[in-house]
Amino acid sequence: MSVQLFIPAFRVDECLEQIKECLEKGWTGLGFKTIEFEEAWKKYTGLSHAHFLNSNTSGLHLAVYMLKTKYGWQDGDEVITTPLTFVSTNHAIMYEDLKPVFADVDDSLCMSPESIEAKISPKTKAVIYVGIGGNTGRYEQVVAVCKKHGLKLILDAAHMAGTRIRGRHVGGEADVSVFSFQAVKNLPTADSGMICWNNKEDDERARKLCWLGINKDTYARTGRQGNYKWMYDVEEVGFKYHGNSIMAGIGMVQLKYLDKDNSHRRSLAQIYKKTLAGSEKIKLIEINPDCESSTHLFQIRVQNRDLLLQFLNEKEIFPGVHYRDNTEYAIYSHGKGTCPKATKASHEILSLPLHLKMNEEDALLVANEVLNFVNSGEVTLNEQKTF
Ligand SMILES: Cc1ncc(COP(=O)(O)O)c(C=O)c1O
Repeated sequence: MSVQLFIPAFRVDECLEQIKECLEKGWTGLGFKTIEFEEAWKKYTGLSHAHFLNSNTSGLHLAVYMLKTKYGWQDGDEVITTPLTFVSTNHAIMYEDLKPVFADVDDSLCMSPESIEAKISPKTKAVIYVGIGGNTGRYEQVVAVCKKHGLKLILDAAHMAGTRIRGRHVGGEADVSVFSFQAVKNLPTADSGMICWNNKEDDERARKLCWLGINKDTYARTGRQGNYKWMYDVEEVGFKYHGNSIMAGIGMVQLKYLDKDNSHRRSLAQIYKKTLAGSEKIKLIEINPDCESSTHLFQIRVQNRDLLLQFLNEKEIFPGVHYRDNTEYAIYSHGKGTCPKATKASHEILSLPLHLKMNEEDALLVANEVLNFVNSGEVTLNEQKTF
């Protein structure tokens, strides 16, 4: 039997029921289920605004675009960001001809508030913070740094569906937070996301911009009497970033189970933690004790990561790496050497399999194989042995 990194779990009958409802109504696009899902998401998170999108990537771009145009940022202005993320985070800055300035991470693998503060220049306009693996790191301190320096804060909450700090769902402290409901996230659909602004004006603008700038969506226009359904205005050039009712219907089902699913993830993480904590060859990632993490990932750090990866693959166990230091990519090479902790971490991190089709025995099996490897003594740092 093989153990994969991620396998999404869908409640198939319930999802099909939702999709059937869309098909029977003849409404699969923007509106109907998308509105229902936005309301359900606001209720679940306690966030005051939410607009359903086709991905987190489009939401991050929209967030940067909206802030840049609202506050008159200039091309070349700077946004502080992490090198340890999926490229969507940093591409969002590049789409708008702004400059990603990389801040270093701490032992939580999230950006450290000290490093963010040290990277602030007269051109800095904003920070994009990533709660990697669902962990908040020292997010509350980052919120304080942004307030102190008058910087806008975008939370890339792609991993954070269900993450709470001191009992409150994350998101409301940032100017805008963007969630991902992509196929392997904690709340999987196929591809979708949610942008949550902290004020009505931005939320209303986002709704127009996600629908090409059109100021009345088709759903709102449907059912109106008269000949003026086509009579909308286009106030600014927008994008086609909104979500659709099929994805929202799946999201409605998945949301019902999110807390239960995250608690299953935490129980698997607990097995990993208990089994691996004693080994001095394995470093566990620091989790903020005030944070109830969505536990999207369970990451460890080992010196000889690539060999461990090969060893586990031979045992039909398929972990992942989140992420390669983005400054190693050609497009972000201007940041090379500026974040030594992130660079080091990116060569040591390994995400162990974590999904709802695993049980505690599977987690124990994986953990024991990791221990077998690190305790084998056969492999030392930088040795090029292949299994
Ligand atoms: C940290 C992070 N940000 C952004 C994204 C992009 O999310 P989406 O696939 O919904 O566009 C991902 C997805 O992997 C991610 O892990």
